Amino acid sequence: MYWKSLYPLALALAVKAESSASCSFDDATMTAAASISQLASCPTLEGTLEISGDGIGSLDLSSVEEIKGDVHIFNSSSATDINLNQLGKISGSLSIDALTQLHVIDFTKLSQIEDLSLISLPSLSTINLNTGISKLGNLKVSDTALSDLSGLIGQITSVNQLDVDNNKNITQLQLNNLQEVTEGLILSFNGDDCEISLNSLQYASNLTLQDTGSISASNLSSVNGSLIIAYNKYDSFELPVEEVGGALQIFANDDLTDFSLGNLTKVGGEVRIFNNSELEDMSESFASLKSIKGAVNIEGSFSNLTMPDLEEVDGDFTVKTDNEDFDCKEFKKLQSSKKIEGHNFKCIAPEKNASVSGSASLATETFDASGSADDDEDEESSSTKSDSGAGYLGSGIVAVFLTTLFSVLI
Ligand SMILES: *[C@@H]1O[C@H](CO)[C@@H](O)[C@H](O)[C@H]1NC(C)=O
Ligand SMILES: *[C@@H]1O[C@H](CO)[C@@H](O)[C@H](O)[C@H]1NC(C)=O
Ligand SMILES: *[C@@H]1O[C@H](CO)[C@@H](O)[C@H](O)[C@H]1NC(C)=O
Ligand SMILES: *[C@@H]1O[C@H](CO)[C@@H](O)[C@H](O)[C@H]1NC(C)=O
Ligand SMILES: *[C@@H]1O[C@H](CO)[C@@H](O)[C@H](O)[C@H]1NC(C)=O
Ligand SMILES: *[C@@H]1O[C@H](CO)[C@@H](O)[C@H](O)[C@H]1NC(C)=O
Ligand SMILES: *[C@@H]1O[C@H](CO)[C@@H](O)[C@H](O)[C@H]1NC(C)=O
Ligand SMILES: *[C@@H]1O[C@H](CO)[C@@H](O)[C@H](O)[C@H]1NC(C)=O
Ligand SMILES: *[C@@H]1O[C@H](CO)[C@@H](O)[C@H](O)[C@H]1NC(C)=O
Repeated sequence: MYWKSLYPLALALAVKAESSASCSFDDATMTAAASISQLASCPTLEGTLEISGDGIGSLDLSSVEEIKGDVHIFNSSSATDINLNQLGKISGSLSIDALTQLHVIDFTKLSQIEDLSLISLPSLSTINLNTGISKLGNLKVSDTALSDLSGLIGQITSVNQLDVDNNKNITQLQLNNLQEVTEGLILSFNGDDCEISLNSLQYASNLTLQDTGSISASNLSSVNGSLIIAYNKYDSFELPVEEVGGALQIFANDDLTDFSLGNLTKVGGEVRIFNNSELEDMSESFASLKSIKGAVNIEGSFSNLTMPDLEEVDGDFTVKTDNEDFDCKEFKKLQSSKKIEGHNFKCIAPEKNASVSGSASLATETFDASGSADDDEDEESSSTKSDSGAGYLGSGIVAVFLTTLFSVLI
């Protein structure tokens, strides 16, 4: 049978009895229990169907075996439960959102999901599943009262996009069968100290971990897109990732004192590290990093940061710390040997009190690839450290001299 969108549809359900078990909708909207009861003759739902409004209480969809189309159940403060206990497969999409009183969904038979989203369901604490989900395309679970997602995601080995965020009752996400994420994995702002384990994960496209209590991903070799680690609660983390295809961002991790991305060799986008107030030690963080295709912007109060293997930075470069133990020498060397190709180079740390700082700041200006003298008075003065290498300072002065000579000749 085929239902054309007549709004409101409730009275328009002149159901044509066809032998087909499939009901097809063309942007149909149902707002009343009476119209919804018509779905009892529809084992398969196709097309686009919306169910919405305060005329719904207990939603009985127990005849539905497969959702091939797009079904959207939303915006109701009266819906309390959804019975989809014969639904085995969502080959289209099912999205359920903004149902303030919904507390249970019966998915007893569900095993395969192409696309499911559960959003803004603050009372939803129970999903009934029997054997659980074995095949999953895209899943978003956001702002619910669910505390355990193991039936939905515990068995899956591969997923396109998985987003679990703002579910304050979730204290752990054990995804230890998950091997690949072809699009994105977002695990953000769930319960306090939410523990994440992803120990079979080999690659993810985008990976975002925010406000988590711990992370274990012992097999992760590649993040094809961006890796974002923010607002987390741990004081240290370690990831074996070798390559990040997009941006690497580490910010607002208030307790973080150190981390290790010791196997990371290549970043395809920018590297941004900021607002990690306790982050002091990055001496081992990037032990193998060779190339950064984007810009580098690292700011904080760290006393050390080394990238001993770094050979190439294609974008602008800013390293700025307010810790006076920091030494810019390493990065200035890289810049003077043309390994940092971006137009702007800045390495800024507080000047140590020393009398020779005048000549040192001359030297650093000369090394500024932007051509404009660096206006920041906090420019680190490498000469103030007695061990900073007279050769380096010497070549700086020679460069100043040559530059001056050059401009005189012009
Ligand atoms: C949600 O439903 C309420 C009442 O039924 C209605 O006033 C409101 O406009 C709806 N909101 C959306 C976003 O559809
Ligand atoms: C969710 O957490 C709140 C507060 O932490 C608690 O009161 C509530 O019982 C929890 N709900 C479930 C379903 O665990
Ligand atoms: C991501 O990277 C892994 C390892 O380099 C590769 O096997 C996989 O095909 C890539 N996936 C995508 C979606 O690019
Ligand atoms: C990854 O994230 C970037 C932005 O952070 C976005 O542009 C891109 O579409 C995402 N890729 C996937 C596969 O989700
Ligand atoms: C880690 O990945 C390798 C393949 O790269 C695989 O052989 C191994 O079983 C994985 N380990 C875990 C714990 O999943
Ligand atoms: C780097 O990889 C080796 C094995 O290849 C592993 O033992 C080590 O822990 C990894 N380093 C980090 C920081 O994860
Ligand atoms: C970083 O810190 C500054 C100053 O405290 C704050 O204004 C800004 O919102 C923070 N940014 C993020 C992304 O946390
Ligand atoms: C790096 O800084 C930390 C914290 O200030 C310090 O404990 C550590 O010894 C330093 N490491 C190196 C190699 O300088
Ligand atoms: C630098 O000088 C200021 C005042 O001139 C002083 O307070 C500070 O302790 C000095 N720092 C060092 C490392 O000597």
